Amino acid sequence: MTEDVPPTTLARAESSIGEVALRRRGRHTELIVGGAFVMDTVDVSTEVELAAVALERHPAPRRVLVGGLGLGYTAATVATDDRVRHVAVVEMAEPLVDWARAGLLPTDLDDPRIHLRAADVGEVLVATPGKWDVILLDVDNGPGFLVREENADLYAPAGLRRAVAALAPGGVLAIWSSHVAPELLETLRAVGVGTVEEVLRCVQREGRDLEYAIYLLAGVGSASGRGERSTTQ
Ligand SMILES: C[S@@+](CC[C@H](N)C(=O)[O-])C[C@H]1O[C@@H](n2cnc3c(N)ncnc32)[C@H](O)[C@@H]1O
Repeated sequence: MTEDVPPTTLARAESSIGEVALRRRGRHTELIVGGAFVMDTVDVSTEVELAAVALERHPAPRRVLVGGLGLGYTAATVATDDRVRHVAVVEMAEPLVDWARAGLLPTDLDDPRIHLRAADVGEVLVATPGKWDVILLDVDNGPGFLVREENADLYAPAGLRRAVAALAPGGVLAIWSSHVAPELLETLRAVGVGTVEEVLRCVQREGRDLEYAIYLLAGVGSASGRGERSTTQ
């Protein structure tokens, strides 16, 4: 639960997507991007699970792309998998990358396989065809609650096809959302490659039950990768 104490600012700077700030509230850290609350450390189970469920669905994930960095939980979880050789973490808010390098984030990203980079993950997807075994997208609060308007392209049919094109054969795409997103599920199905799956998780915040979701497209470009898996809870 969010602690009922005023926040202290740990770091604050301008970025290409507006002001970014790291705040401390009691025992927890908060991230503000473009003046809006993006996340905190109260419950990061689904940020961790985004990495875990995607890695589980790939037989040999060596190259992983994570967009964006946030507080680093997804990226740090990827690095716990010994099969992974290279983790590219792409973050649009440049100061956040500097703060991660300076050790200001609540996660340990000091691993030679982790490569932090300030960029738009949409541009990286276009520039890296066929490169990634696993792509993890957590750049918004979900397709219905964007951190920046331009990110809407990532969830549109053309954007999802670009992500698929950036996968190596057998690749897995996973997208985090703070809400159930039926339109994204439909668009993933319409892309027509791989196995589509919706993983739902109940998270309690401030006395409320919230339903978070992870959308998966697995087995892209592999012989066995056609079909549909049902929702798992
Ligand atoms: C919800 S946070 C990610 C949380 C992360 N999964 C974790 O475990 O802490 C979303 C991050 O994506 C960044 N972001 C937003 N749009 C982006 C884009 N187009 N490319 C790269 N990063 C982006 C935001 O600045 C923010 O740091």
